Amino acid sequence: MANNVVVVGAQWGDEGKGRIIDLLTPSVDAVVRYQGGANAGHTVVIGDAKTILHLVPSGVLHADCLCIIGNGVVLDADVLIDEIEGLHSQGYLKNPKMLAISKSAHLVMPYHRQIDQLRETKLGSARIGTTGRGIGPTYEDKAARRGIRFGEMIDPEIFKKRLEQILPEKNKLIEILGGHPVDMSTLLTEGEGWRKRLAHHAADASLILNRYIKDGKKILFEGAQGTLLDIDHGTYPYVTSSNTVAGEACCGSGVGPTVIDDVLGVVKAYTTRVGEGPFPTEDDGKVGETLQTRGKEFGATTGRKRRCGWFDATILKHAARVNGLTMVAITKLDVLTTIDPVRICTGYKLDGATIDYIPSSDEELRRCEPVYEDMKGWKEDISGVRKFENLPKATQAYINRLQEIAGIPISIISVGYERSSHIMMRDPFA
Ligand code: GDP
Ligand code: IMO
Ligand code: MG
Repeated sequence: MANNVVVVGAQWGDEGKGRIIDLLTPSVDAVVRYQGGANAGHTVVIGDAKTILHLVPSGVLHADCLCIIGNGVVLDADVLIDEIEGLHSQGYLKNPKMLAISKSAHLVMPYHRQIDQLRETKLGSARIGTTGRGIGPTYEDKAARRGIRFGEMIDPEIFKKRLEQILPEKNKLIEILGGHPVDMSTLLTEGEGWRKRLAHHAADASLILNRYIKDGKKILFEGAQGTLLDIDHGTYPYVTSSNTVAGEACCGSGVGPTVIDDVLGVVKAYTTRVGEGPFPTEDDGKVGETLQTRGKEFGATTGRKRRCGWFDATILKHAARVNGLTMVAITKLDVLTTIDPVRICTGYKLDGATIDYIPSSDEELRRCEPVYEDMKGWKEDISGVRKFENLPKATQAYINRLQEIAGIPISIISVGYERSSHIMMRDPFA
C-alpha cells in the first residue's frame, strides 16, 4: 500500500495531470505542488463546471485535503490572489487553513514577466515559445541568489531591503532589452497588497509534510509541465526552467527520497506540445488536425493551439527511466476513436541507424525520423466505458501494446474529461 505518490507528466505537459490528481485526492490527506509556476494550467471538470488551476494544487476541489505550495514553486502573487478569489466564488477553499504556502518559495516579480516577454520578442524565430509568465527569469534569480522569497516578502522591511539590492540591476537589464524600468514605490505598494491577501497562508511546508509522513498520512506530490520540458532531461533548450521529473518532488517540497513509494506517469494516448522545439511524431496533416479539434487542444494557460501527433513510445520509455515510473495513467483515449490505423512510434531512424532512445542533442533529435507500428483503430464511443473488458477489442489491444512497450503497469485509463469518466485498473493508494 502506497502512502506517498508522485504524479508527473510523461510527455511535454498537458497530459491531464490535474484531472488525475483530482481523481486520486479522496485517498490522500495532502497534495503538494513542488515546481513550476503559473506557466502550468491544470484542468478539472466536474459535471459542467471547469476549473483551471495554475498555482493552487489540483486537490483543492476536495474540502478536507490540505493543499501545499512547496518551496520549489515560483509564485506569482497576482495570479495566486485571482485564483483564490475564483475558487471562493465557486464555493471552494472556504477554510484558509487548507492552503499552506512555503516561505521558501520564490516570487515571480513584475520585472521577471517583463524580462521573459522582452527576451522572447528579441529572439524572434529562435524564441522558446515560453508562456511569458516570467518563469525562466525567476529561476535564474533563484540560482543567482538574487531572488525574493515569499517569507521575505511578508516582512516589509526585508522586502524593501531586498528590492534595494536587486532592482537597480534589473532595471539596467530591462533598459538594454528595450523595456520600461520598474518603479520601486509601485513594487512596495504591490507588496502591501500581496501581504494583506497571502501572508496568513505562510508556512514551513517541509515541517508540515514530514509531520504528516510521521503520522502515516498520505501525500500526493503534484508535478507540473512534463518530462520533456525538464531543464536537464528534456529537449533543451526548448524546455522550462525547472526540473519537472519525479526527483524534484523531494527537493521542491522538503522531503527525502526514501519516503516516496510510487511514481505515476501521466501520458496522453497521443502526443501534444505547445511552444517551439523538436517533435518527431508531429502530424501537420489531417490526423493532427483531428486530434487538435476533437481533443480541444488549446493551452490551458495561454490559449495557444497545441501541436499534435502520434503516440511516441520512445518518450514514454525515456520518462519511465528518468522518473523511475512505477505506474502509468493514460488519458484522452476517447479522442482516438474513428482514427484508423492508430500509429505508435517505437523508435527513430537517425543517420541510417535505428535507435530506441531520445538523443540528448537538439540537432540530432531534429534529424530523427519516427519508426511506426500500426494498430487497428475502433469506431465505438468509449466515453461511457468503466471496465477494461468492456472496451472494444482493438482499444484493448492498443492499451496492451503500450503497456508492453513501456514495461509498466497501467493504473488509470481516462476516457473523457469529466471526473467520473475513467477506468480504474489499479488504485495507487489502495
Ligand atoms: P495538465 O496540465 O496535465 O493538467 O493538462 P491540461 O488540463 O492542461 O490539459 C488536459 C486537457 O484534456 C483538459 O482540457 C482536460 O479537461 C482534458 N482531458 C483530460 N483527460 C481527458 C480525457 O480522458 N478525455 C478528454 N476528451 N479530455 C480529457
Ligand atoms: P502544465 O503543467 C505545456 C512550455 C511552454 C514553452 C516552454 C517554456 O499545464 O502541463 P516557460 O513559460 O515555462 O518558460 O515555457 O515550456 N510549458 C508548458 N507546456 N504545459 C505546461 O504546463 C507548460 N508549462 C510550460 O509552452 O514551450
Ligand atoms: Mg496544462
